[in-house]
Amino acid sequence: MKVSIIGGGGRVGSDAAYALQLGGMMDEIALVDMNEDMAAGEALDLRHGAALTANTTFSSGGYEVVDGSDCVVITAGLRRKPDESRLQLVNRNVALFRDILSKIKDVKLANGAIIMVVSNPVDILTQLAVEADIVPMMSVLGLGTVLDTCRFRSLLADHFKVGARDVHALILGEHGDSMVPIWSSATVAGVKMSSLPGYTTEAAEEVFAMTRKSGAEVIRLKGGAGRAVGVSIKEVVEAIALDKDAMLPVSAYQTGRLGISDVCLSLPTVVGRAGVLGILEPDVDYLESEGLYKSAASLKEVYGQIDPA
Ligand code: 2OP
Repeated sequence: MKVSIIGGGGRVGSDAAYALQLGGMMDEIALVDMNEDMAAGEALDLRHGAALTANTTFSSGGYEVVDGSDCVVITAGLRRKPDESRLQLVNRNVALFRDILSKIKDVKLANGAIIMVVSNPVDILTQLAVEADIVPMMSVLGLGTVLDTCRFRSLLADHFKVGARDVHALILGEHGDSMVPIWSSATVAGVKMSSLPGYTTEAAEEVFAMTRKSGAEVIRLKGGAGRAVGVSIKEVVEAIALDKDAMLPVSAYQTGRLGISDVCLSLPTVVGRAGVLGILEPDVDYLESEGLYKSAASLKEVYGQIDPA
């Protein structure tokens, strides 16, 4: 499988390339970046590790290297400032994103190619990618709350002192301030979260609060996220490459689950080689469903305000 990363010379794009290389499932990874030398340097540095990782080949350059891609991952974008919400970032990134989409439109993608959006605000930009009509609607998905869910599981594992892979707790809705923790189905290896020693409502809410501000905290400390974003991207790309039917909270165009439609946000979604294979209607409680409706409304409001094409 060939993956192209638009923004591959940047922190998120190069961390994603490295995670994919360690996963060993990709035949070729092409890196495109405004900083061409950075993309070339990342491609070279990654290829130097091939003998001890995987025989993935790397290329870099202009959009001609995107030809034949099975999956195009868009990570390029201006980074949020620590005190800036993802939605405030929107118009700064919409213009850049539209330019990227216009260049991808001129590329000869592989049949059935998938476009995966990571750039922020990811839900808004995922909807722009759907509406660009470069590939069918269900062949477009965004990283959405896959990263938030990964952070949430990892931070809950810290709190309960259990293995992070045994923690199953979803974040749904917007990859942003209105994200929603789904406590009603949270478990540790099948044991309801609320029945665990050390569980209190206050502690749980504190872990969610930490999750929600994780992005800003990492920006404050090291300038921007990369590692957890990279492995989250890898999880989605490998689900596509291996046609895994993986259940992931990717951002997708909603067509009515939970009564939510005409917006991109994260609900439990079956992901395979054809992209969004199905969107599930989770059994959520009243507070959780209200949170999801607020998420949808907030995203629709912002989407309505973006600069027209
Ligand atoms: C984050 O939450 C980059 O939006 C991403 O760190």
